[in-house]
Amino acid sequence: MAYVLIFSRHFPFSHRLRGTSICLLSLFISFLCYCALFPGAAVMQKSGDPTPSCLQADGVKLRLQKSLSCLHPLDAQRSSAAGEAPQPQTDQRRPAAAAALTARDNTPSPPMSHLKFGNKKLPNAIIVGVKKGGTRAVLEFIRIHPDVRAAGTETHFFDRNYDRGLEWYRGLMPRTLESQITMEKTPSYFVTKETPHRISAMSQETKLIVVVRDPVTRAISDYTQTLSKTPDLPSFQDLAFKNQSLGIVDMSWNAIRIGLYALHLENWLRYFPLAQIHFVSGERLITDPAGELARVQDFLGLKRIVTDKHFYFNRTKGFPCLKKPESSGSPRCLGKSKGRTHVQIDRDAIEQLRDFYRPYNVKFYEMVGHDFRWE
Ligand SMILES: *[C@@H]1O[C@H](CO)[C@@H](O)[C@H](O)[C@H]1NC(C)=O
Ligand SMILES: *[C@@H]1O[C@H](CO)[C@@H](O)[C@H](O)[C@H]1NC(C)=O
Repeated sequence: MAYVLIFSRHFPFSHRLRGTSICLLSLFISFLCYCALFPGAAVMQKSGDPTPSCLQADGVKLRLQKSLSCLHPLDAQRSSAAGEAPQPQTDQRRPAAAAALTARDNTPSPPMSHLKFGNKKLPNAIIVGVKKGGTRAVLEFIRIHPDVRAAGTETHFFDRNYDRGLEWYRGLMPRTLESQITMEKTPSYFVTKETPHRISAMSQETKLIVVVRDPVTRAISDYTQTLSKTPDLPSFQDLAFKNQSLGIVDMSWNAIRIGLYALHLENWLRYFPLAQIHFVSGERLITDPAGELARVQDFLGLKRIVTDKHFYFNRTKGFPCLKKPESSGSPRCLGKSKGRTHVQIDRDAIEQLRDFYRPYNVKFYEMVGHDFRWE
């Protein structure tokens, strides 16, 4: 445009006709150049389509910088905060991304609620288990990633709500841009017999994430949670053993049954190849959240944007927390119920349970090709 103005200034009023035709010619040449440089943007402007179709093409990053009009404000904010240099990019993204995390949690939030960008898609990736393994933490950590959007609550679609149909399920999902991954988490899926078949019927491409943790500590954590809601619960030992002096474990008790990972996994492997299932170590998620998140991002085919810069360790809680977004006041740790102190179980019972789980654990290590070192 500047070029056009400067050009036309050289021609005074008396040459108006010639000036006008040169002006038009310049405009036309400018338009051709513009089209050659940004074909997607030009098409979008012409069709006047408000949906961000320009994101589907290659060279997304270039166009993100050049035509922010096709993004919703959150992403625009992100990419403008991202700057040009690749290294500080992740660093500068953090506040916006972390703010987005908070915004998504308290639905409906004013800046997001009126936006109708993108479409609701069935999930590409599901965190299917396990209860008390750290599934909430994985979801909260991975959704910092700008290319991930997740349903806020556990949908229980494939176990309890399957008869409501896929369109009901889709309705629970957040709107996403074409380039974003849709996720949900429902930890009971991993131990529900019908779930693998049902998920594969939705899409055989679905990526599955299982957060696993030492089955003994998992069972105690599970019991602790139930006890907090049901104070007159029988003792852990009474529920875990059919006969403790004989060391006979009650495998039908859910808190015990969930930890038989090898048995549940067998069921999944009838419908999904192992390569499509990623296992997160619940232990390492606490000691090295960034390392575990790097592997999750690789598995999902995402750039490693969630890094150790996003976490700090809260010693009181014994848990990693997300650093605070600049806009809001407090840092984000998981709820009070997460990382709570477990009830004390006597050493004998724990040893008996370790013996009980050992063969199942070994089998599980062999199946997944990874030793989780639950002693
Ligand atoms: C456990 O087994 C022992 C030995 O057979 C038996 O004496 C005891 O009564 C059993 N306890 C329970 C609670 O069944
Ligand atoms: C750490 O966790 C404790 C207990 O949940 C909480 O009271 C405290 O504010 C947290 N500290 C930081 C720095 O996050």
